[in-house]
Amino acid sequence: RQKTLILGIETSCDETAAAVVENGTVIRSNAVASQIDIHRRFGGVVPEVASRHHVDQITVICEEAMDKSEVAWSDLDAIAVTQGPGLIGALLVGVNGAKALAYAHGLPLVPVHHITGHIYANRFVRELEFPLIALVVSGGHTELVHMSQHGSYEVIGTTRDDAAGEAFDKIARTLGLPYPGGPKIDRLAKKGKPVIDFPRAWLEEGSLDFSFSGLKSAVINYVHNEQQRGHDLNAADIAASFQASVSEVLVKKTLIAAERVHAKQILVAGGVSANSVVRTEMEQAARTRGIPLIIPPLKLCTDNAAMIAASGTIGFLKGTRADLSLNGKANLAI
Ligand code: KG4
Ligand code: ZN
Repeated sequence: RQKTLILGIETSCDETAAAVVENGTVIRSNAVASQIDIHRRFGGVVPEVASRHHVDQITVICEEAMDKSEVAWSDLDAIAVTQGPGLIGALLVGVNGAKALAYAHGLPLVPVHHITGHIYANRFVRELEFPLIALVVSGGHTELVHMSQHGSYEVIGTTRDDAAGEAFDKIARTLGLPYPGGPKIDRLAKKGKPVIDFPRAWLEEGSLDFSFSGLKSAVINYVHNEQQRGHDLNAADIAASFQASVSEVLVKKTLIAAERVHAKQILVAGGVSANSVVRTEMEQAARTRGIPLIIPPLKLCTDNAAMIAASGTIGFLKGTRADLSLNGKANLAI
């Protein structure tokens, strides 16, 4: 048989998701139950609350994904599940759900690293060409990954403190915007100008690592100083200036990495790749250097299970398997 059909399951943070993907490239179904509205009133994701909602949703979402895909259980090749990294209680719901379904239907189980899922969301847009550089920027991650072939991942840059999305969420909170702050900052920034000179953390010469804690403190100090002086805050200018600083560092370091490995493609993925300034500046920079750029559509940038099934397809074809002793791992290495 030529088709590879994989059911993917993702529960690492606050989205319960299941999807069926054909050959790692075609989405047959993509079901997501978001908990954003539930966590908003707490100002962030509450792990225990997340786990409970995953428990409520996991069966329904898996059934929805299977129904919509019009694929029979007996036609599936495997079940792929996010093993980590993420919130341990949340991960366990997906892992145990996947184990139960794999056992019940006699299917192989394929463990997937969440970051590789974000990278593989790009394969729904275009076939990957190697070597490539992927920038994964989300609420939990800021990673530059070098891939020389399918399923091979070398992390060549990472954050030394906050993830890019975390910085967005914290600055949004400082500006009184609701969780998750990234999209709110993005929208607010459109009404402002990047006129405030916030720092850019380049770190040591040649380093591909990131740091956002200095920028975060600079923005918070700026806000406090302005308030103390009794000035009206121009939140839109603050948002635009903060966003410009994050974007400039992300774009420049990604381009340096791409040139260093002679990348044939640059991929961007994770929640922050939904950011309008990151997208436009990355597009401009990649075009100037003549390197093809792929960024998934917004729906595939944030957590979903189609990306887990896509990465799981590669794992499945390479023979990666887990047995029923599989456990979630909060800080799983790539
Ligand atoms: O990939 P994702 O859904 O979950 C994680 O794996 O973390 O990413 C969520 C993060 C949040 O921090 C959110 O604020 C950020 O992505 N985000 C954005 C935008 N949309 C989502 N950050 C900046 N601009 C956006 N438009
Ligand atoms: Zn994610």
